[in-house]
Amino acid sequence: MSNHFNRRTVMGGTAGLASAIASISNADAKLPKNDVEPRGKTGKLERLPTLDLEANDEFLTSFRIWVNSDLNRAATQRAEAIMKADGLDKAFDMPLAEAFKHRFNDDPVVQMRAHVWLHAQNLMWHNLKREFHGNYDAYMAEMEAADNAGPGKLEMNPGIEPAYTKHEIHIQPGGYVGDPFAGHLYHYGTNNFYSGRNYQDDLHVAMAANVPTPKDGKVLRILDQGCSCGQLTVALKQRFPDAEVWGIDVGGPMVRYSHMRAVDMGVGANFRQALAEDSKFPDGHFDIVTSYILHHEVTAEVTRKITEESHRVLRAGGVYYPIDFRTGTGGRSLQREMNPYEKTRNYASHRWNHERWLMQYNTISHADEMKRAGFEVNENGPASGFGGRGANVMGTKKA
Ligand SMILES: C[S@@+](CC[C@H](N)C(=O)[O-])C[C@H]1O[C@@H](n2cnc3c(N)ncnc32)[C@H](O)[C@@H]1O
Repeated sequence: MSNHFNRRTVMGGTAGLASAIASISNADAKLPKNDVEPRGKTGKLERLPTLDLEANDEFLTSFRIWVNSDLNRAATQRAEAIMKADGLDKAFDMPLAEAFKHRFNDDPVVQMRAHVWLHAQNLMWHNLKREFHGNYDAYMAEMEAADNAGPGKLEMNPGIEPAYTKHEIHIQPGGYVGDPFAGHLYHYGTNNFYSGRNYQDDLHVAMAANVPTPKDGKVLRILDQGCSCGQLTVALKQRFPDAEVWGIDVGGPMVRYSHMRAVDMGVGANFRQALAEDSKFPDGHFDIVTSYILHHEVTAEVTRKITEESHRVLRAGGVYYPIDFRTGTGGRSLQREMNPYEKTRNYASHRWNHERWLMQYNTISHADEMKRAGFEVNENGPASGFGGRGANVMGTKKA
C-alpha cells in the first residue's frame, strides 16, 4: 500500500511535506509477513492499525503542538508579568522553595498549560496501551516472529534491570522496563512528543549525520547507548553501512521492538539488552560511542559509570559523543540559568512527568565527568541538532 499523500501531508505544515517526500521515496514497501497492522506504511512509519486510533493520535499531536506553542507563550507571558511585579526577572539563583512561593500556578493560564499538557499526554499513552494490550497475542506473535530474523542480531538479557530504571517515566504505563510493549508505546508516544516532526525519524537522521568521527576516519564499530526503539541506531547504520552498529538498552521490550523494526526496514543494526554502564563489550571495541537523551534519565552516579564504561569500550582515538540537554559550553550551570518560573516548571516535570533523575542531571557537568574518566574533552564539539541547543561536548580517548 502506498500513501503518497495522506492527511498529514495535505493538512500539515512543512513537517507534513517532509513526510510526503520521504513517503514518495519509500512508497510501495511490501507488507512484512505476520504484520498485524494491515494499513501499511507512510515511509518509515508503520501506520496505527485503526482510523479511530490514528485520528485520536493526530488530534492529540496537534493539541500538543498548540499547547507547546501558543498556550505556552501565553503562560510564559503571565509568569513573566508575575516575576516583573515581584522584581524577580533576573533572580537566576533563587532556591526552588522560594520560587514556589510566587504562586505561578495561581494564574489560570499558567495552570491550564501545565494541566492540559500532562493530561493530554496521559490520554495519549492510554489510547495506545488499549490497542497493544487489547490485541496482545497478535502483537506478541509479530515480535516473536522477528526475534530470530536478520539482517541484524537481537540479544535479550532479562533480569538486568536495576531499581533506578523501574518507574513510569513520562507517565508511560509500565515505563521502559515494565511493559512487554514498551517499545511500541515509546515509538508512537514519542511521535506525539516530537510534535509531528519525527514521523520519518527525521531528527534521528539529522543527529546521526552530525555524530563526529575519529580523526583517522576509521569507523568499524559504533555503540548507541539507551537506544529505546532504535531510531538513532538505524540511522547510524544507514550512515555507516559497512560498520557493525549496536543499540543497547536496559529495556528488553525496547530492544525487541527495535530489532523487529530494523528487520522490517531491512537494516542490519544489532540490538542487545544491556546496561550502558556494564555493556559486556570487550575493551577498546568501538570507534564511536554515542547516546541520545539517556543521561538526564539516570542518576548522577550512573552518568559517571556510563562515562567510564564508554572510555573502556572505546579504542584509542575513538570518539565519545553523548547527546542531551546542554552538554556543551554553558551546560555546567543548567540549574542556575533558570529563572524562578522555569525552575518551578523543571521541578513539575520531575514530579508530575516522572522525570525522576532530572534534578540530579541538573547538577552534573559532562565535561568534568569525561575529564575524570580520562578523555581529551572538547566542550565546543559539533552541535547534535538536538533542540537547537548549540555546542555538544565530545571526548576523544587518548592514545
Ligand atoms: C529517552 S530514552 C532514549 C531515546 C533514544 N536514544 C532515542 O533515540 O529515541 C532513554 C532510554 O534509555 C534507556 N536506559 C535508561 N537507563 C539505562 C541504562 N543504564 N543502560 C541502558 N539503557 C538505559 C531507557 O530504557 C530508555 O529506553
